[in-house]
Amino acid sequence: MAKNKTNFKCTNCAQISMKWVGCCPACNEWNSFVESTPSFATTFLSSGPAKMGSAASFAAVQAATPLFNFKDINTETQARMLSGIKEWDRVLGGGILPGSFIILTGDPGIGKSTLLLQVADKIAHDYKVIYFSSEESLQQVKNRANRLGFESSKLLFSDQANLESILSTCSNSKPDLVILDSIQNCHLSLDSQAIPGTIGQLRESGFLLMRFAKENNIAVLITGHITKDGQMAGPKVLEHMVDAVFYLQGEDRWQTRILRSVKNRFGTINEVGFFEMQEDGLAEITNINKHLLSEASETPGSALVCCVEGSRPILLELQALCITSKFGMPQRVVTGLDPKRVVLIAAILEKYLHIRFSTQDIFFKVSGGFKIKESSTDLGIALALLSSYFQLPLPQKSVSIAEISLTGQVKPTNQIGICVKEAEKFGLAHVLVARNQQVKTDCKLLSFTNVYELLQLFPEEGQ
Ligand code: TYD
Ligand code: MG
Repeated sequence: MAKNKTNFKCTNCAQISMKWVGCCPACNEWNSFVESTPSFATTFLSSGPAKMGSAASFAAVQAATPLFNFKDINTETQARMLSGIKEWDRVLGGGILPGSFIILTGDPGIGKSTLLLQVADKIAHDYKVIYFSSEESLQQVKNRANRLGFESSKLLFSDQANLESILSTCSNSKPDLVILDSIQNCHLSLDSQAIPGTIGQLRESGFLLMRFAKENNIAVLITGHITKDGQMAGPKVLEHMVDAVFYLQGEDRWQTRILRSVKNRFGTINEVGFFEMQEDGLAEITNINKHLLSEASETPGSALVCCVEGSRPILLELQALCITSKFGMPQRVVTGLDPKRVVLIAAILEKYLHIRFSTQDIFFKVSGGFKIKESSTDLGIALALLSSYFQLPLPQKSVSIAEISLTGQVKPTNQIGICVKEAEKFGLAHVLVARNQQVKTDCKLLSFTNVYELLQLFPEEGQ
């Protein structure tokens, strides 16, 4: 069997080197290399099985693992832990699955701890939940809990930040759910050379927590922050290990927070939940469209579109401002969607309708600070541009749902049913669609075959 030679390991990113180096070739950190004994896996990977010796030497290192047939594997579905906070439960795919390992990330101060405390309090009515607050003292957590109004909570708290101690506490007291707020502040005493929050530590902590969750069937929910420029590699490292990743994001205008699922082994991704930060914590916004529509105007340059986020139709106002450019190079200032899409639609309109958008400055935005990607918003983009160009509003209470091809054809989209239902619910009168779009609705349909027909909406100027 190969001799266990010592090697050197970067305390920042866990890069291994056979000899000591001053600057880590992987993460460029200086003086981060310390001597370490390679693990079985490292030796195996670096020297290969041939040099490791015969099968007998493997047996000496690790006991053989049992193997299963499908028929022997238990697939009994376990009940999920529901919080009763519907926006949370839905985004999680119907509550937290026992034994799952989940990360909630977001900018500092966005409301992760607040949301988790509210969720944990609710789940603690039916399950045993321990909340490890490594970032805040117990007094701070209690103050927050008072502010949220649940003094009599059955939740158990600790401000322990040592991961080995956290795991041994949990092994003994066998909770159903463990919350670690945050993973960046936890540390491993075994690997005392590594600093909490470094990639090496996060990777090791993540691995330990994952094994703990699976082996004990205890759900582990951790928080992690990302820096302003999104550079923090920590949570990214963890994203591969965890079963589910959720982002809590903020909107600039209101105190709105969006909970977004970006990975979920036990549910759908791209699901979104809406909350509003209030004096006494995060309140669910079950009716986001009412919120959005209350702000929409029916003035020139405004067009309503419908995007489907996860399973939810969202009614968004697009706002365009087109004005003759004073410079040779017209400006394109676009927020909330890819600027290239606005430029492309403007080019299609210019080509087929001979409207000279290329001499116009175009300012374009999506209301509420939302970001849109769906191509079903093409028609809305075109109509917002035309409406601003002609300074004429679109038909009252109308929503546009169609794609536009490079050849200027207005094309049907899928998921129209769910959007139309939402339009009906909010009393919208007109739905603007492609001529051959199959759809049943009580709203009045205005349909178009190509972009030429859009001019019918602007009779005073367009014809
Ligand atoms: P917090 O949950 O600590 O954010 P994170 O854990 O993501 O860093 O949220 C902090 C912010 O939320 C802080 O600016 C205060 C505000 N807040 C409220 O507005 N209302 C409340 O009830 C609570 C608890 C916090
Ligand atoms: Mg926090």
